[in-house]
Amino acid sequence: MKVVMIHGQNHKGSTYNIGRQIAEKIVGSGVGDKITGSEVAEKIAGSGNIVEFFLPRDLNHFCIGCYKCIEDVTACPFFEEKNRIMSEVESADILIFTSPTYCLRESGPMKSFLDLTFNYWMSHRPRQCMFSKKAIVISTCAGSGANKTVKAISEALFYWGVPYIVKYGIGVQAMSWDGISDKKKQKIDKDTTRIARKVLAKKNVRVGGKTRVLFALMRMMQKANFGSGEADRKYWEEQGWLDKKRPWG
Ligand SMILES: Cc1cc2nc3c(=O)[nH]c(=O)nc-3n(C[C@H](O)[C@H](O)[C@H](O)COP(=O)(O)O)c2cc1C
Repeated sequence: MKVVMIHGQNHKGSTYNIGRQIAEKIVGSGVGDKITGSEVAEKIAGSGNIVEFFLPRDLNHFCIGCYKCIEDVTACPFFEEKNRIMSEVESADILIFTSPTYCLRESGPMKSFLDLTFNYWMSHRPRQCMFSKKAIVISTCAGSGANKTVKAISEALFYWGVPYIVKYGIGVQAMSWDGISDKKKQKIDKDTTRIARKVLAKKNVRVGGKTRVLFALMRMMQKANFGSGEADRKYWEEQGWLDKKRPWG
């Protein structure tokens, strides 16, 4: 069981701590005891691991709109740093995204990361592995906006093809993890246990109708040569998606 975390902040505040609690409950502690199945067996065997990336520490760039990635993904000026993150993302069983709410949305570094991975979107070159992944998206705010943040990040993951996304936005009325009241921390503890259990218990992740419709539209676009160019079309062709093959089982 491999959990990959993308943090939209360098610091370890409320949002980080909530994300980390969930990750540890998934890979390490006893919250899955009541769940049967191979994932739990793995967890009990202690074979899970957590890989973390912090933004901007691990990807300190903005998309410059050069569109070089459209021709050749390796031609992005930031490919090396981006690829270090995305190869871990691609091999993850569970993805956890965390971002504090800044001005009712995700943090700037998280938005920048989503921009820099736009060629993973279904309108360009979605990766087959994404269509069977589970993801958890977390945000905290002082008063309001966490749900909007979580929605914005989840939307990008939907466009990557991720079929199962659990959203958790919470107002903490605090500027740091230490500033959160004990009562609120007890609620967070219960919520993180519930989310870890729910995600572990989810088997047979299936692509939903909305993804299928969007994929069909993107396929029509590629077939009609209305996409972003020959390189994207060739990619779809190579995957067999312009014929009968689909990225889900
Ligand atoms: C630049 C900035 C913008 C913020 N914008 C909002 C906001 O729109 N709504 C809100 O309720 N809290 C806002 N906050 C407060 C944080 O979202 C809140 O304290 C959050 O829990 C911080 O998470 P962290 O401890 O992980 O950094 C903002 C804080 C900063 C620094």
